[in-house]
Amino acid sequence: MTDESIGDDGSRLPEWTPPAIDRGKAHPARIYDYLLGGKDNFEVDREAAEVALKLMPELRGMARVNRAFLGRAVRHLAEAGITQFLDIGSGTPGPGNTGEVARRVHPDASVVYVDYDPIVSAHSRAMLAGADPARTAILQADVREPKTILDNGSVHSVLDFDRPIAVLMVAVLHFVSDDEDAHGIAAQFVDALAPGSGLAVSHAAEGHEPGKFGAARKGWNNATSQLVLRDREEFGRFFIGTELLEPGVVFIPGWRPDHELTAEERGLDYGHAGVGIKR
Ligand SMILES: C[S@@+](CC[C@H](N)C(=O)[O-])C[C@H]1O[C@@H](n2cnc3c(N)ncnc32)[C@H](O)[C@@H]1O
Repeated sequence: MTDESIGDDGSRLPEWTPPAIDRGKAHPARIYDYLLGGKDNFEVDREAAEVALKLMPELRGMARVNRAFLGRAVRHLAEAGITQFLDIGSGTPGPGNTGEVARRVHPDASVVYVDYDPIVSAHSRAMLAGADPARTAILQADVREPKTILDNGSVHSVLDFDRPIAVLMVAVLHFVSDDEDAHGIAAQFVDALAPGSGLAVSHAAEGHEPGKFGAARKGWNNATSQLVLRDREEFGRFFIGTELLEPGVVFIPGWRPDHELTAEERGLDYGHAGVGIKR
């Protein structure tokens, strides 16, 4: 994506930027993109990220290990025989995206990307423009309205709910509060799945320096979504109706690592990860 135009405020906008974007507020997708070194972000997102980074420099590493967990979870679920993936809160499908990893194992894997951020959806459509529509769909929808996802025609045209599907909610449920019934939402997805389906979740948590993430959240004060930290027990309840795969609920880099963890990675315990299988 190199073509850009000049926006109303003089900033450079990629050509795929949809018209009605609120660029006065930071968005989680674009803060995360900035932390990962991407270009799909605006000044307000970079400012929010920088405020948070000053309080918690580990955030960059957390974004990186979280993205790596997504890849490992998809690979393990694909190797376990799952060929269908519903990636909710997908972010932009950059290198190592769900489809890319799943298709290394099953070249005909089907993937639906869901995100509520209009920029993510627009960019995803541009990036995946050449994809087979029978195997890939992009849906702009809110995880807090599970029925709009579970009943969506384009989701059903790509995914067969009578066969196992891996639902990925990676670094998204911490944007859903208890008042919005984060656990009930996860349960609705699990209920809709056939036996043998998978659920992969990662989520922000306190970590070894309690209070640090809480302080860094202040960087999100002007953002569209607030971050909710949950403890291990609260996180584990997202897997009700599934059986957790080994090693159970662990810190994010510790879920079936594909290399010996570095000292830095061992310190990145500000989040939980787990993968369950519906029996
Ligand atoms: C931290 S990023 C994670 C992206 C990707 N899942 C990963 O782990 O690499 C969180 C994503 O969740 C999306 N998101 C946040 N709240 C959401 C909601 N209520 N419904 C759908 N997507 C949401 C954001 O737009 C963003 O793309």
